[in-house]
Amino acid sequence: MRKGVYDMFRRHKITVIGSGATGATTAHLLALKELGDVVLVDIQEGVPQGKALDMWESGPIENFSMKVAGTNDYEVTAGSDIIVVTAGVPRKEGMSRNDLLKVNSEVVFAVVEEASRVSPDAILVVLTNPADVMAYVAQKASGFPTNRVIGQAGVLDSARFRTFLADALNVSPKDISAFVMGGHGDDMVPLVRYSYAGGIPIEKLLAQETIDQIVKRTRTGGGEVLGLMKSSAFYAPASSLAEMVKAVLLDERRILPVISYLDGEYGEHDIYVGVPAIVGGNGVEKVLEVDFTEEEKAAFQRSVASVRQPLSLLSLGAKG
Ligand code: 2OP
Repeated sequence: MRKGVYDMFRRHKITVIGSGATGATTAHLLALKELGDVVLVDIQEGVPQGKALDMWESGPIENFSMKVAGTNDYEVTAGSDIIVVTAGVPRKEGMSRNDLLKVNSEVVFAVVEEASRVSPDAILVVLTNPADVMAYVAQKASGFPTNRVIGQAGVLDSARFRTFLADALNVSPKDISAFVMGGHGDDMVPLVRYSYAGGIPIEKLLAQETIDQIVKRTRTGGGEVLGLMKSSAFYAPASSLAEMVKAVLLDERRILPVISYLDGEYGEHDIYVGVPAIVGGNGVEKVLEVDFTEEEKAAFQRSVASVRQPLSLLSLGAKG
């Protein structure tokens, strides 16, 4: 999948599956950042076409050269370098992400089968919830090597963590380095010990009580937005997807918390879950294993167990 020199100067082609709030916002961000030509695909006739046309027409004002097209036909997505999966049902108030397991595993399996058939060399980035399990579903549906299927959750959760830490310190979030591991659920693991403000450990700067409150708020960050606007977050999820797409298409080799396939790392096998990884032109270039305290290890294992539970309920027609 690594691009040759000449490929580097070819415009990339990006497919976004799902033209709902997250998918459409992601498509617009990708065009604004000039990461490639964007194809927005959805089952609803007219909606991806109308939203794509509308955002394409912002090009002269926003000063981007990329084409944005909407379609209901996966043939139009053929030859994509990267496929972003947002299709599925978003959770409603009172639902857990795992409540979406059955309906969304069917949606994700179907759309990924279609898209991967015409873009066999693409990288898959999956946001649909429950994200850790949907990444696993996407890998089975596509049959792609596991490194070419990545789930989006940790970039979003870490952004929330960094936002709240910056707010508590009254400093720019640009200077906060922090990440979250584990499943994208209420038992996700914000790694306090690996969090810094301008290189200073945050435990030197904030009281433990404040840190504990921020960890709790991070874990329930999706639910907080959902409770306020009665629908799922989409701005920060879309920004998180755009960050991952950029790391892949520009072969940035970023260290990002992403849902990756574990084949022995952290003592786990045959599961997709959030871990720090190097993300580049081949997708997950390498999973990074950090040292845990006993408490951190137990928290990570609890979070992994919360992914294995819904995973065990899946019955997939595996391709890969
Ligand atoms: C969130 O945490 C939608 O799961 C996503 O907001």
